[in-house]
This record gives sequence, C-alpha cells and structure tokens, in this order.
Amino acid sequence: MPTDFSKILFEESVLLDRIGELAKEVERDYEGRDLLLIGVLKGATILLSDFSRALRRHVNIEWMAVSSYGSGTKSSGVVRILKDLDIDITNRHVLVVEDILDSGLTLSWLLGNLRSRGAASVEVLTLLRKPEAAKVHIEPRYVGFDIPNEFVVGYGLDYAERYRNLREIAVLAPHVYA
Ligand code: PRP
Repeated sequence: MPTDFSKILFEESVLLDRIGELAKEVERDYEGRDLLLIGVLKGATILLSDFSRALRRHVNIEWMAVSSYGSGTKSSGVVRILKDLDIDITNRHVLVVEDILDSGLTLSWLLGNLRSRGAASVEVLTLLRKPEAAKVHIEPRYVGFDIPNEFVVGYGLDYAERYRNLREIAVLAPHVYA
C-alpha cells in the first residue's frame, strides 16, 4: 500500500490537532444554541467520529447519503439522495460536516436542499478544500486545510472504495488510477 501514494499530506496527529481547533471554534460560535451535525456518507464518517468527540458539548448527529453522478474522480453536480435524514430539521441549527470540498457541486446542491427544509441556520465544516477545483462558490464557515488540486485519499476519502481506513491523508500515485 505505501507505494500507492506519492506523498503523505497530513499525518494523523496534524489532522487531530486541527480538528481540535475547529471544535473549539464551533463550541464558541454555537454557545447557547442546539447543534445538529449532519455527516455526508461515506467520506465524512471518520472525520465526524473524531470531530464530534472533540466537542465538549451536547450535539445531535444525523447522516445523509447522496450520490453525485459521474464516475472515477469527477463529480457532475447531478445529485440524488440515497439516504435521507431521519428527522425534521425545521428551526434547527445545522452544521454539515464534509471531508472535502472539491468542485463544490455536491455541497451546493445539498445546501439548497437543506435550506429549503426550514432550518434556522445551515453552515459547513469541511476538513479539506481545493480552491483550484471550485466550479461554484461556496463559503464554508470552517475549513481544516486548503490543499492543491491533487487526488487525495485516506481518513475517509476513497479511490474506488479503497483507502478510507488510512489514518493519514495521502496523495494517490498516478499509476494507481492511470
Ligand atoms: C466526495 C466528498 C464530497 C464530494 C465532494 O463524495 O465526500 O461529498 O465528493 O466533491 P465535489 O465538491 O466535487 O462535489 P463522493 O461522491 O466521492 O462519495 P463518498 O463520500 O461516499 O466517497
């Protein structure tokens, strides 16, 4: 497996430190308000596990699964819901937790969808953002790291459903997907 990566971008300790900082910001910003975390399957599973446990406050956790049509390494913006929320989010303060903001097409659609359900607020926390890949403008309230436009895997992020269980975030070597 190590030869599948051209470099390690973030070691686990670096990820956990940054997630701890983000958790402190979120605690401050949402003081006195209920907070509903919505994780987007499957990429956000590891992040939401660590992020929610870094928060020293009550939260609710819900999951959605969406599929962006388009194969391989590109998303298309045509999104369909594979698993919807189990609850009504009217008047709730929602924080969408995403592993990566790439083109922004998935989140753009998802934010429109969640806002139309009458949430009191909808904000975004993303661990990674690729500014060079943006196709639509999205302003996440919390960003872990800006990264170059390279194919990254690990810490929940996959290539062909592999590497999600890698503790670090690594750049996939081109020979793997060429
Ligand atoms: C990834 C990621 C985001 C989306 C970002 O999910 O988790 O949801 O792509 O891409 P975009 O900004 O270009 O829309 P993916 O559809 O690969 O599903 P997964 O989380 O199950 O891996």
